[in-house]
Amino acid sequence: MANTATLEINDKKYEFPLITGTENEVAMDISNLRGVTEGVTTLDGGFKNTGSCKSSVTFLDGEKGVLRYRGYSIEELAEKADFLEVAFLLIFGELPNKEELEKFHADIKKNSIVDEDVKKILDAFPKSAHPMGVLSSLTSALTAFNPDSVDVDSEEDVYNSIVRILGKFPVLVAWAMRKKSGLPLDYGDKNLGYVENILKMMFKVPNEEYTQNQIVVDALDKLLILHADHEQNCSTSTVRIVGSSHAGLFASISAGISALWGPLHGGANQAVLEMLEAIKEDGGDTKKYMAKAKDKADPFRLMGFGHRVYKNFDPRATIIKVAADEVLEDLGVEDPILDIAKGLEQEALNDDYFVKRKLYPNVDFYSGIIYRAMGIPTEMFTVMFALGRLPGWIAQWREMRLNKEPIGRPRQLYTGETARSFTAVEKR
Ligand code: ACO
Repeated sequence: MANTATLEINDKKYEFPLITGTENEVAMDISNLRGVTEGVTTLDGGFKNTGSCKSSVTFLDGEKGVLRYRGYSIEELAEKADFLEVAFLLIFGELPNKEELEKFHADIKKNSIVDEDVKKILDAFPKSAHPMGVLSSLTSALTAFNPDSVDVDSEEDVYNSIVRILGKFPVLVAWAMRKKSGLPLDYGDKNLGYVENILKMMFKVPNEEYTQNQIVVDALDKLLILHADHEQNCSTSTVRIVGSSHAGLFASISAGISALWGPLHGGANQAVLEMLEAIKEDGGDTKKYMAKAKDKADPFRLMGFGHRVYKNFDPRATIIKVAADEVLEDLGVEDPILDIAKGLEQEALNDDYFVKRKLYPNVDFYSGIIYRAMGIPTEMFTVMFALGRLPGWIAQWREMRLNKEPIGRPRQLYTGETARSFTAVEKR
């Protein structure tokens, strides 16, 4: 392939370099476009064709259903690694050896206590508050409570902020859930593994011994790994762009949590369960909802179907479907919602509208089903996604800093009024 692209505007030709990535993806480097063309920009709503950065964290091929973290396939990582190893891999680029992993975990545990005063902020929220909003606020508050880990130019501060957020975030997640159910807040148990500790912090009740179910621990570990990174999606791009102004890690991640909250992104797992509930309440007629999803006059969409990048299948969905079957069988869950989910899945996979548009179940179609079987409240599903995505956000933020990326500042095509004179209020 040629290594330049030619653009012709008003009979004038401009050359732009073509850059090839390690997986042979080709990008046209237009960084000097405005300068050489004297003002021409590109318009690309939703950034469907725009690369915002060079990254060596995650590779995905939406056509082939490939997802790799730092070169390792998601299938292999989900089967052989644990979440903390994957977090280390994403953030620092290589799998940790035993000592590195132990030190990483010890540093995280050492930093997992959240200042008691954070409880006062939590107390001020109404019980009805959505836990994603609560989590975003408490994460932002970490900046105020950890002033010695916010210098983005200090390697030591950045490492401290990484282990601090990995330590404190699960505590905040558990607190957000316990607040809703009126349970006393807890700091977890230093002797447990990272994921076991999360489950205990979420589910321990004061008058009962908490016992771990290994199938649930393994399924949550896998779910967190599957959600850990997904290159330049909406929340990750948000984290990078906020960080590009040299805002600290906690502030950037707080913004990422808000971006993830929306139903077209991480909020889809909650929306899937709410949709399945609504179908059940309405008599369980899946065909009626299939017809609504296909009706262009109806805003209803089949939540958990379709993906901006995967136009074949979502490899995470394939892995999680198997885990869902295991968990449901082990926990002996019989749930009419599951029959509705399976019915919808089968109908959509065999329906022309969905097949033609390459709309397949995405990871969120199945993750909500597992979370529900684990006893996690529906409003917490997106919070669980955030817990999984945390290492990816950290890795991408750190890469953006190490690459010394410039501040993110897109252009626009102005379509408003041209210059006009002010009219005094009495004359309008
Ligand atoms: N149900 C019905 N029709 C759909 C759906 C759906 N879930 N998703 C896309 N379509 C249709 C669109 O109406 C459009 O049809 P048209 O070509 O006749 O106009 C076509 O498929 C393409 O859809 P777009 O919205 O252009 O696709 P895009 O790539 O922009 O959107 C998205 C992807 C947002 C995920 C979309 O499929 C959707 O809204 N899905 C439901 C929400 C969801 O599950 N989100 C989770 C994403 S995964 C994640 O964040 C981890």
